[in-house]
Amino acid sequence: MPFYVTTPIYYVNAAPHLGHAYTTIAADVLARHHRQLGEEVFFLTGTDEHGEPVAEAARAAGIEPKELADRNAARFKELLPRLLATNDFFIRTTDPQHEAKVREVLAAVRERGYVYKGTYEGWYCPRCADFKGEGDLGEGNTCPIHHVPLLREREENYFFALSRFQGQLEELYERNPAFVAPAVRYNEALSFIKAGLRDVPLTRRRLRWGVTVPWDADHVFYVWFDALLNYYTALTYAPTAQGGPDRFWPPTVHLIAKDILRFHAVYWPALLLAAGLELPKQVFVHGYLLMEGEKMSKSLGNVLDPLAVIERFGADALRYYLLRDVPFGQDGSVSTTAFELRYEAELANELGNLASRTFGMIGRYRDGVVPVAALDRELAEGLFAGFPEGVAQRLSRVELTGALEYIWERVRGLNRYVEQQAPWQLAKDPGAAQRLDIVLASLACGVRAVAIALWPYLPAAMDRLLEALGVAGRSLSLAHFAPGPPLGGRLGELSALFPKGEVGAGREARR
Ligand code: MSP
Repeated sequence: MPFYVTTPIYYVNAAPHLGHAYTTIAADVLARHHRQLGEEVFFLTGTDEHGEPVAEAARAAGIEPKELADRNAARFKELLPRLLATNDFFIRTTDPQHEAKVREVLAAVRERGYVYKGTYEGWYCPRCADFKGEGDLGEGNTCPIHHVPLLREREENYFFALSRFQGQLEELYERNPAFVAPAVRYNEALSFIKAGLRDVPLTRRRLRWGVTVPWDADHVFYVWFDALLNYYTALTYAPTAQGGPDRFWPPTVHLIAKDILRFHAVYWPALLLAAGLELPKQVFVHGYLLMEGEKMSKSLGNVLDPLAVIERFGADALRYYLLRDVPFGQDGSVSTTAFELRYEAELANELGNLASRTFGMIGRYRDGVVPVAALDRELAEGLFAGFPEGVAQRLSRVELTGALEYIWERVRGLNRYVEQQAPWQLAKDPGAAQRLDIVLASLACGVRAVAIALWPYLPAAMDRLLEALGVAGRSLSLAHFAPGPPLGGRLGELSALFPKGEVGAGREARR
């Protein structure tokens, strides 16, 4: 089975911020990891370009929605290589092929009897592009997320018969407790379903900026149905999706934040059932990155610019920090101070030093050639027993922080090993030459193991390290603590993996 991972498609009403980068980075780590396992991978991201949030922002800027969409989609797209994201395709919902496929699928849903005409009356948030039940109104009929006044809407719409899927969705949740993870989000989605599903508008009459409805030109599709279908339509025309939906459908995991849980955990499986398409295996819901306790969001204006962080510290450091500091699946605060602390204490001092002292000692005591020797059993049977499997098990549960901590215990363990073995003492004793060979060979293979396991998180630095070690592949099997390259090889040049000056330079730049 191929591994198919998606991010939400991001709204183009503003520029990308760290929150968007977060999900994309997480998806990239999974994509790289599954490629390391030798699996065929499809990694999809893109932009959600229709609907009221975009139309409103364009009106405010005095330009056409498409012009705004082009401008901001380009910024989302440009961010990807800067994050070192290896997405296989970038979908834009204004792609004509996407629009045509949306019409086709939703016309089929109507043919199958799940669409009817009715009148919607209720509250609506133009920022969320979402209808609000009486239960989720903020004070004074405001949006609880955006704090803006809600609109009272009365509109003749086509409805999607969501309520008819009540039983099937309950069964799905019953049968598949991993359909939504973590468990707290599963419970949230299930209680939403159990509270009783109501039919939802499938089209909007008042809006023009959207995919026109094939059976009624006065309507466009409600943006969420157009958007959700991206996960399917992309496979029908992405040149990189060789074999199309037959090959890659259904998605292995959709990564989202909890703000869009209901759409992915309730509407989406119902829509797929209505269309007769197979359901995704899992929706994994991460938490919010918070700044001073509030969700980072463009409408709240409290955003960190990922590009500025990358410019100062590099993409690896950003990737590492976000997945390390905020347990994946929970909310967590981010700050420049915490970032700098982890950069210095963990990346520079723990990982950077491990690499530089290993290279330094092999240079000094063995003229840069890694000795061919048996590996230390203490490490093989202790610290590194079952190592790649331990990483893979955690990542199969999307425990991105858990896997990173697990790898990091080995980084720390190798530093402890250096202290305990004190190669500088062994080097003074001619009788200990064989022991020194074992220690240096074990260190080199230990560094290879952690570098391979860290490669999905820190691709640029680990590519440098592995190249200097003379390790050509990136397969996770190279994370086995066993003889292999670089034993017997000459080490290449390795400049500091995480120069400490970067932090100082950052401080300077901010003054
Ligand atoms: N366009 C819809 C999604 C359609 S998917 C079929 C949308 N777009 S969005 O631009 O608002 O992006 C929301 C997503 O961005 C979240 O689900 C999450 O993946 C990411 N994040 C945005 N802000 C975030 C934080 N502050 N923290 C964590 N993730 C954040 O909703």
